[in-house]
Amino acid sequence: MTVARPAVVAHRGYSAVAPQNTLAAVEAACRAGADAVEIDLQPTADGVGAVIHDETVDATTDGTGKVSALTAGEVLGLDAGARFAPAFAGQHVPTLAEVLGVLTRHPDTDLLLELKGSWDTGQVERVTATIDAAGFDGRVLVQSFRPGTVATVRDVAPHLPGGLLVSFDPPGLLRLCERLRVAACNPSVAAVAGSPRLVSRLHAAGLRVMSWTANDPAAWTTLVSADGGAGVDAVITDRPERLAGWLTGR
Ligand code: G3P
Ligand code: CA
Repeated sequence: MTVARPAVVAHRGYSAVAPQNTLAAVEAACRAGADAVEIDLQPTADGVGAVIHDETVDATTDGTGKVSALTAGEVLGLDAGARFAPAFAGQHVPTLAEVLGVLTRHPDTDLLLELKGSWDTGQVERVTATIDAAGFDGRVLVQSFRPGTVATVRDVAPHLPGGLLVSFDPPGLLRLCERLRVAACNPSVAAVAGSPRLVSRLHAAGLRVMSWTANDPAAWTTLVSADGGAGVDAVITDRPERLAGWLTGR
């Protein structure tokens, strides 16, 4: 019997072995054979954007302050590697264009781009123009927890598939996904575990399901066996190599 294999998505790059959301983590994910890399993009004061998870630079870099109050030049100059391990000192906070540059050299690894924070239309246009300039049509999905941000992306770049992230299964989820015209609805592991038939309902609506963040066999089992084995389409994990081995061995 052939068991459908969900895609392996490296969360914030291969963040178990390299500092999250850095070029080193993206490169490591590609070399590990991840099907896609998930990264976070925060808006900067000048609208360029920086690849970083938090609203502030405090936790992962040698700087302080809100990303949205800093220019791209200020954020990108910060060290984002040394706090993870001294060997990664010098890894900087990347731009989206830099991440796309790495992925261009690794054509088998796609991009799952999460827009964090508050984005206006002009800033979203800049993001989608960067994706288009890199020729990533067909290799990227743009997702957000914020329905308003998803709607802006869909309006500005209807050719780019969109995704709605959810931490739980809210009332009216399918209607919201339909209104936003997303290709994917991406729930947490807890949402999948706690909401029987969520995956099946999303699949029946024609949506892809990419679930996060699953780092151990118990969580992987929850996702691949969801709804009687229907399973999710992609598993987002900090440990893409272990997940790929586990999927092969099951
Ligand atoms: O891709 C979804 C997942 O990354 C959402 O959680 O907090 O890691 O961005 P977070
Ligand atoms: Ca994320």
